[in-house]
Amino acid sequence: MHIDVVELGTPAAEAWASRWFDSWYEALYAGLSHGRTNPVLYPAERLRAALSRATSSERRFFFSLVDDDAHVVGAARVFLPGLDNTDLVQFEMAVAPSARRRGHGTALLRAVRDLATAHCRTLLQTDLDRSFDQPSQQWSGSAFAAARGFRLGLEDVRRDLQLPTDPEYLAELERRALPCAEGYRISTWFGHTPAEDRPRMATLMARMSTDAPLGDLTYEPEAWDADRVTDQEQHLAALGNQWWTAVAVAPDGAWAGYTQLQWSAHAPERLEQEDTLVLREHRGHRLGLLLKVATLQKCKITAGLGSDLAQADAAHRMVGSLAEHERRAATRRQHVLAQVPFVDVVPDLLGAGDGLVVRQRRVAVEVGLRA
Ligand SMILES: CC(C)(COP(=O)(O)OP(=O)(O)OC[C@H]1O[C@@H](n2cnc3c(N)ncnc32)[C@H](O)[C@@H]1OP(=O)(O)O)[C@@H](O)C(=O)NCCC(=O)NCCS
Repeated sequence: MHIDVVELGTPAAEAWASRWFDSWYEALYAGLSHGRTNPVLYPAERLRAALSRATSSERRFFFSLVDDDAHVVGAARVFLPGLDNTDLVQFEMAVAPSARRRGHGTALLRAVRDLATAHCRTLLQTDLDRSFDQPSQQWSGSAFAAARGFRLGLEDVRRDLQLPTDPEYLAELERRALPCAEGYRISTWFGHTPAEDRPRMATLMARMSTDAPLGDLTYEPEAWDADRVTDQEQHLAALGNQWWTAVAVAPDGAWAGYTQLQWSAHAPERLEQEDTLVLREHRGHRLGLLLKVATLQKCKITAGLGSDLAQADAAHRMVGSLAEHERRAATRRQHVLAQVPFVDVVPDLLGAGDGLVVRQRRVAVEVGLRA
């Protein structure tokens, strides 16, 4: 058995990929999807496209654990933030179901720890995704993390919204929210942020790391500027993504919040809800709801134009509302449903037929490394 480590954006990664990428992805996919209902995972082609790209904000590595018969039985993606949180290593790892409980997970984790130590990092963080109804005691990732000394930092839930969304429903949500947002306006665009707006976008994106719930996670404010916004958008485009942004503009012209919806050419059947933020000082105006309604309306209009977005029609079938940060563990389904963003605004509009389904829990855990 041995572990291969390749850094993305290097010639070695491309050489590795031609021999190993497919079996690496197979192990990762099998490990992460096993036992979960409707998992939302990065498609192979999106990760393959990332192989040749380095980014300025973090260094990224793929690990593969290969057994003596040259089968990849474990896989990991490992990230070293470079502009902030430089004490941290974030990772995702999985062992193929047929190869579990033989120490492979521990071996992979040890390799992640060794990389962390080599780069003077002192904290490991990872996410554990499991189906919503699955108790944590029965989840392999939770048992493994507990056995290896990780502690819980934050729990989120993911909800899926079936598309297309009824335009009348969106219009009704908007109509009811608007009186709370007097003086504010919502501005939307498709694709790259206009150059003159990138500094303001950077300010909002930095606040995503301080104003969203962090629970007990150790995480310092992210460092964003216009160049990082440009870099991130170029990276998204190179990986085959398209995206829609909405910002809320306060009565004095300041930007008060934003949201983004993303579509990947490699997973055309869904849209992904990315960041949504309303700055603390602008909360209580229903801006989060108005922002989400605006991006849903905007992407429908853009896609409706046809042209190069024809495939996005298919994407209207589902929005995977990923990583909607919720405060701490929601223990009862009823309780979680009560936190669905639209419910508290218009409980009478979200009946059983409205297609918003709680799918998944995500738990972020971390472990400190001894210096
Ligand atoms: C979590 C995962 C990577 C563990 O891989 P693995 O090769 O089975 O891990 P190991 O054999 O090294 O297990 C080490 C210890 O973790 C604990 N553990 C792992 N899986 C467990 C399970 N299903 N139930 C209870 N304890 C478990 C045990 O203490 C085990 O030691 P033991 O076998 O001597 O009792 C694998 O189950 C997996 O891919 N799960 C889905 C993806 C995931 O949750 N990834 C996040 C990992 S941080």
